[in-house]
Amino acid sequence: MNIEETKKFADKAEGWLSDREGEILYNLAKNCKGKGVIVEIGSWEGKSTIWIGSGSKNGNKVKIYAIDPHTGSSEHQKENEKIWTFEEFKKNIKNAKVDDIIIPLVKTSEEAAKNFNKPVEFIFIDGAHEYEFVKLDFDLWFPKVVNGGIMAFHDTISWKSPKKVVADYVYKSKHFKNVKFVDTITFAQKVEQNSLKDRLKNRYVLLLKNLYEFAGKLHLPKSNVKTIVYQIYDREDYMKKSLGAKTLIYPTPVWLVGTYDKKGKPNVATITWGGVCSSKPPCVAISLRGATYTHGNIMERRAFTINVPSAAQVEIADYCGMASGKNVDKFAAAKITAVKSDKVDAPSIQEFPMIIECKLSNSIEIGIHTHFIGEIMDVRVDEAMLGEDGLPDILKINPILYGPGIQSYYGTGKYLGKAFSIGKKIS
Ligand SMILES: Cc1cc2nc3c(=O)[nH]c(=O)nc-3n(C[C@H](O)[C@H](O)[C@H](O)COP(=O)(O)O)c2cc1C
Repeated sequence: MNIEETKKFADKAEGWLSDREGEILYNLAKNCKGKGVIVEIGSWEGKSTIWIGSGSKNGNKVKIYAIDPHTGSSEHQKENEKIWTFEEFKKNIKNAKVDDIIIPLVKTSEEAAKNFNKPVEFIFIDGAHEYEFVKLDFDLWFPKVVNGGIMAFHDTISWKSPKKVVADYVYKSKHFKNVKFVDTITFAQKVEQNSLKDRLKNRYVLLLKNLYEFAGKLHLPKSNVKTIVYQIYDREDYMKKSLGAKTLIYPTPVWLVGTYDKKGKPNVATITWGGVCSSKPPCVAISLRGATYTHGNIMERRAFTINVPSAAQVEIADYCGMASGKNVDKFAAAKITAVKSDKVDAPSIQEFPMIIECKLSNSIEIGIHTHFIGEIMDVRVDEAMLGEDGLPDILKINPILYGPGIQSYYGTGKYLGKAFSIGKKIS
């Protein structure tokens, strides 16, 4: 379930949680890697549990221990009100189809913590709000959270006790970094020992949080201090981090370059440094290191093909990027068939859905790579891969995308809109 769908189910459950708060819980759960479990203290009728459950299911499916005695708060008990939210809780998480990932513990936080020996990667604390209980929740669960794990607390604005606990033990602590707040939720990453820079940053966010709360109390309209604080905070939150001068261009294509060697032996090599470089004449550029067999072949034959693999052919693509035609016959090893091209002196891969035949028109030496520019002489596509308009259908071909740096292959995403058209909405 995406955020929009999750919201529909969360809205049906009774509870006090804004959409922004729900979304942050969803994302925190989604980001869990499985270094520990997820714990929720205070589930009530399952509103926050649905957000967390759905996020986790969209991520690494980390199990969630939802802890609540389901008998209401001390306020309810004082008023002699009989409260029992467990049935409603079960119904709500079942409707939202997150019940398979949630383990309810019908206990107080203290009872549950006693025998709980699993490491915790993310905990959301929203139990009893009296100071001694919030502090107890912190003391009981903090040691169980792994370093790098996240602790989140609800109602840390306006509610005196959760506010004081996070101010003293999270914002001013030496064991948390990246403290943030979204509406009334404060969350932070636990670390063995934070740095002076982390502590200063945490104090700065605490200052913003106090300002935000103060502005809220003044009931100022939207274009006021409250918004300004959010703007400063958001800017802080989304500030880009410099990663240096690297080829981190996401994504690049995955192409197999087909060539013949001097003796006419066909070869293919995987490249990801490539792209269109001219429309008229239609040209494509690929960059190859001088050490590759393909480099010599292109120089010799002045031609190459670009063979576009489908997602299902990713293993062949990866293999052809590791083995060299100097030592092996990659066509035989990968069980693919070399076919002569009609227009150029280079072989193509029969099993691949789309082939671009290129004649070498230029080459430029750039650092350790030679940039080969090929004029496109023909594009050949399996008929089954064409759309109704007669053009290659990207979803049918399902080409592979590459992430440099992370060195990973990805599939093609979904259709987003018509080019030279959807942008008109802005003007
Ligand atoms: C995902 C991936 C991308 C690659 N991209 C390139 C590239 O853009 N340019 C290049 O020279 N080598 C690239 N390589 C490495 C070559 O494919 C590799 O050196 C191969 O063995 C060359 O084959 P050859 O000696 O038969 O020509 C890539 C390898 C992989 C796995």
